[in-house]
Amino acid sequence: MTAETKRNSLARKAPGKLRSARWFAPDDLRSFGHRSRAMQMGYAPEDWAGKPVVAIVNTWSDAQPCHAHFKSRVEDVKRGVFQAGGFPMELPALSLSESFVKPTTMLYRNMLAMETEELLRSHPVDAAVLMGGCDKTTPGLVMGALSAGLPMIFLPAGPMLRGNYRGQALGSGSDAWKYWDERRAGNLSAAEWQGVEGGIARSYGHCMTMGTASTMTAIAEALGLTLSGASSIPAADANHIRMASAVGRRAVEMAWEDLTPDRVLDARAVRNAVTVAMATGCSTNAVIHLIAMARRAGVPLGLDDLDAASRVTPVIANIRPSGSTYLMEDFYYAGGLRALMARLGDRLDLSAVTVSGRTLGEELEGAEVYDEDVIRSLENPIYQEGSLAVLRGNLAPDGCVIKPSACAPHLRQHEGRALVFDSYPGMKAAVEDESLDVTADDVLVLRNAGPRGGPGMPEWGMLPIPKKLVKEGVRDMLRISDARMSGTSYGACVLHVAPEACVGGPLALLRTGDRIRVDVPARTIDMLVEPEELARRRAAWTPPAETVGRGWNWLFARHIEQADQGCDFDFLKSGFGASAGEPDI
Ligand code: FES
Ligand code: MG
Repeated sequence: MTAETKRNSLARKAPGKLRSARWFAPDDLRSFGHRSRAMQMGYAPEDWAGKPVVAIVNTWSDAQPCHAHFKSRVEDVKRGVFQAGGFPMELPALSLSESFVKPTTMLYRNMLAMETEELLRSHPVDAAVLMGGCDKTTPGLVMGALSAGLPMIFLPAGPMLRGNYRGQALGSGSDAWKYWDERRAGNLSAAEWQGVEGGIARSYGHCMTMGTASTMTAIAEALGLTLSGASSIPAADANHIRMASAVGRRAVEMAWEDLTPDRVLDARAVRNAVTVAMATGCSTNAVIHLIAMARRAGVPLGLDDLDAASRVTPVIANIRPSGSTYLMEDFYYAGGLRALMARLGDRLDLSAVTVSGRTLGEELEGAEVYDEDVIRSLENPIYQEGSLAVLRGNLAPDGCVIKPSACAPHLRQHEGRALVFDSYPGMKAAVEDESLDVTADDVLVLRNAGPRGGPGMPEWGMLPIPKKLVKEGVRDMLRISDARMSGTSYGACVLHVAPEACVGGPLALLRTGDRIRVDVPARTIDMLVEPEELARRRAAWTPPAETVGRGWNWLFARHIEQADQGCDFDFLKSGFGASAGEPDI
C-alpha cells in the first residue's frame, strides 16, 4: 500500500458528525443565530454546510516583528482550506513578541496556552492551524491545542534572512551581545553600532540563530506537528507561502480523519524531539518547554531524560551560537531539518506518526544533506556531546542547566568566590561600576529571578561581564542564576536553578564570599558551606513579601511550577481535575 492510499484509508467522518455541525446544522433557534451571523459576514450555506471548520489561531500583531508576514500569510492558509473544501475561521491570539513584551514573554506563555485551549473549545471548529514561531508562541500554542484535543497542525513562522553589516553576516541576539561588549569596551563607534542596529534584522521571520525560536519550531517538526520540512523555510521565501496553503489543505483532511494530537504526540515523538533538540545544539529554554509540552500530552519527561540524551547525541547542526559561522538560512540551503533528521537515522523512532498521517520514516525518504559543513555527519560533529548538561548539588537539589557547547572550556570545571546579587537592577548597576571588587575567577550570581521571583523567569541569566573585566579582554565568566537566558546567548551560564531562591531554594542562602564549585563532567554544583552554617542561615531566612494582590501576576504566583517541572500552571497539567468537556448549549 502506498503512503498516499494508506493516508486515504484512514476512516473519514460523516459530515453530520463534525463538531461544527452542532453549531450550524440543527433546525433550532440557536443554530438559526449561528447561520444568520455567518451570513452577516457575507458567507452563504455553500461556504460552511457539511464542511469542516478550520480554526486558524494567528499570533500576528503590530508588536510582533517575527510574525509580521502572518497578516497576509493567513490568507494563504485560508486559500488552502477553501481549496480542500473546508471553511476557515481566523482566531487572533496573544502575539507574545519576544522583542517588546516586558518583563518577559515567559510570564505569558501559559496565558497563550490557556487562550488557545479555550478559543478552540468555545468556537465551532473541527481542526486548528496554529501560526507561531517567536520563542514562547510555539510551546504556548502547542500546549493549549494539546489540551483542547482537536486535530491540529503547526505552521512555523520561519526564520528571518541572515543579518548583514558591511558584508558580514549578523546573527540575531548573538551578535547584539557580541557587539555590545565591543561597544562597552570602547572598540565600536556610535555609527558602527547604528550600522549593526539597521542590519541585524532585515526581514520578517523569527530569530535566525539556533535560539529558542529555531529550536522550538524544529522540536515542533520533530514531534510530528508540522508538515515535513516546514520549520526550516525562511519566512521571506516563496516556499513558505506554498507551505502555508498546504497546511490549510492538510488541516481540512485532518478534520475528516479526526487525526487528534494524542495520535501524533506520543512517547516516540517526545524521544525524537529530545534527540533532535540535542543534535541542533538547542536553546536552554527548550528544556522547560519540552517538559511542559510532553506533560500536557501525558508523556512523562524530566531533566534527567534530557541530560541522558545530551550525553549520547552529537551536535551536528553547525549553527550559531553553538556553531561558529552559519545561520538558519544556511541550514535551509543545506537541506534543513529533514536532512538533519535523516542523518540521525535510527537514532529516531521512524515509526512515529506525523500530522501528514504518514510516519516520520516515510516523510524523510529522499532527504539529503547539501552542505556537509553546515549539517555535519555523526562522525564529524561540532561537539561529540554537550548540547546541554543538568547539574545537581546543594545549590540546586532539583537541578539546573548549562550549555557546555557554548561556554569557555576552562570554566566547565571551576571553583570561585561568589558575588551575589539579589535583583537585576542592583546587578546591572554593579557591573558597570569600574571599582567593583571582582576578578575573572569569581562567580557572578543573580537570584530572585526564577519562575515566581522574576516573575516569569526573565532572560537575565547571561549576566554581563563586569565592565572593568571586559576592558581587560575577559569575555566569559561562570555565572549562576534561577533565571533563563536567551537561546541566542552563550557563555558559562548556569541557569534555571531549582528550587528558585524566592521560594526558599538553597540559592537564597548563598552569600557573597562563599566559594562555589561547578564540575560539568561530574554534573555537580555546590556551595562550599558547612551544613550547620546553612542550617543557621535557613532558620534566619524569610520569604520575600508578596507584592502583587490582583490580576494575572497574582494568579501566576500561586500556580506556577518550578523550572524542572516545565513552568506550567499546576491546574493546567494533564490529569488535573475533571475535564471542562465540550460546550453543550
Ligand atoms: Fe521573535 Fe527572537 S524575537 S524569535
Ligand atoms: Mg529569544
